[in-house]
Amino acid sequence: MTQTHDRLLIIDFGSQVTQLIARRLRELNVYCEIHPYQNVSDAFLKDFAPKAIIFSGGPDSVMREGSPRPPKAAYAMGVPILGICYGQQVMMHDLGGKVEAGEHATAEFGRAYVTPTDKRDDLLTGWFMDGTGREQVWMSHGDHVSEIAPGFEVLGTSPGAPFAITADRTRHFYAVQFHPEVHHTPNGKTLYENFVKLAGFTGDWTMGAYREEAIRLIREQVGDKRVICGLSGGVDSSVAAVLIHEAIGDQLTCVFVDHGLLRQNEADEVVSMFRDHYNIPLIHADESELFLGELEGQSDPETKRKIIGKLFIDVFQKHADTIDGAEFLAQGTLYPDVIESVSFSGGPSVTIKSHHNVGGLPEKMGLKLVEPLRELFKDEVRALGRELGLPDSFIGRHPFPGPGLAIRCPGEITREKLDILRKADAVYIDQIRKHGLYDEIWQAFVAILPVRTVGVMGDGRTYDYACALRAVTSVDGMTADYYPFTHDFLGETATRIINEVKGINRVTYDITSKPPGTIEWE
Ligand code: XMP
Repeated sequence: MTQTHDRLLIIDFGSQVTQLIARRLRELNVYCEIHPYQNVSDAFLKDFAPKAIIFSGGPDSVMREGSPRPPKAAYAMGVPILGICYGQQVMMHDLGGKVEAGEHATAEFGRAYVTPTDKRDDLLTGWFMDGTGREQVWMSHGDHVSEIAPGFEVLGTSPGAPFAITADRTRHFYAVQFHPEVHHTPNGKTLYENFVKLAGFTGDWTMGAYREEAIRLIREQVGDKRVICGLSGGVDSSVAAVLIHEAIGDQLTCVFVDHGLLRQNEADEVVSMFRDHYNIPLIHADESELFLGELEGQSDPETKRKIIGKLFIDVFQKHADTIDGAEFLAQGTLYPDVIESVSFSGGPSVTIKSHHNVGGLPEKMGLKLVEPLRELFKDEVRALGRELGLPDSFIGRHPFPGPGLAIRCPGEITREKLDILRKADAVYIDQIRKHGLYDEIWQAFVAILPVRTVGVMGDGRTYDYACALRAVTSVDGMTADYYPFTHDFLGETATRIINEVKGINRVTYDITSKPPGTIEWE
């Protein structure tokens, strides 16, 4: 793809927090990509033509034979380089300094404080200004630099890292021992801001620019062929669909598979938005009978997920086959999925849950992929959605999993339980909205439990289902904390659900974080 914006290259040496570097840069309207060090050859560097380079941290030791290295050509490109933690050590080692192993003291993990030396540099504009004369930073290193490379000078020190911040100001090479990308380095963003400024970035990575460019690239890729898009009603596939429609109009057809596991009014909302509001050709495949039939009697979570995943592909294919001349399949793949699949450590390890997507389809159907969101993070997708005029109420919607209510109904799925669940969920979300909490919460939903409990209503005995309310805060769904509702809120919501939803007589609140729990119940 031909790009028109300035690009920054992050060479990944395997740090757990490399993605956060990219986040910080994107927040500064700087376009960057993460590539594992093994993939960064001289030819790659030339082709990528970065305006600056960042070396990430990593778990290895530069003193180990065969440990990761950037290509030597990186130092000869004449562009600024920032080395972080392992990246600092590798830079010092490559350029003639010395690194020592941690066992001789100076390993540091956690909060530390850096103080400036008498050297000043634009990299530190805005640092050391709060009156304490020092900056809190986050350290996480075993090895440390014991001698800096020729041409470097020390800009900041900490008790465990005499070379906490170093710079070769002629070549604009910077190296820091701590992690400026993490939250625990509160002023870290300023350091990145200074770095990209001195590298000459103009902040040209805006959603307006992205939209124009993505439209041009989609037109270039698709030509006069047809594209099909599986629409789930979630933000990613919806933004992808609207963007592609803007690029190629009616050459796009969307297929919305309704598996009967959607929330209250969800199918109507999605269909009316796309068909009526955007005028996008849409096949509404109501296949609830099929899905619910196949799921009957199944209670194992993985079996349920696999049945849904397989049926989804079959149904999608059946409908896609009716669209003449489709050569492309559009998907709302995001950048974190792309990084994961090429990650330093070789991608995902243990399968916790089989995530459901339309993977496998392109090969089976001989389709090529159109993935206009592959370079974006979730919040950027939301910004693009706003840019494209999708209503805020839609863009701000909590994520909803592909297998839908099936994984919020532990045990056997019945229509009766699904009906009860839909109603309880609607009351709960209504409560959250009424209290103005919706946007503070990453995801909130009700799970109906496979257990009935005894209660008393009026003068009568009840024997109905128990349900669990779930609400979490999260940045990316990978980790999460339960949301600290007030007791008043919980009490009021429980009362409403029990009064308004026939079939539920007990409400609990799930206070598990992730890990050790997961967000969904299955
Ligand atoms: P867990 O339950 O694994 O969920 O903590 C993390 C996030 O992923 C969503 N999720 C899914 N999304 N297909 C999806 O598209 C799936 O199979 C799936 N399973 C979980 C979940 O809702 C949460 O936002």
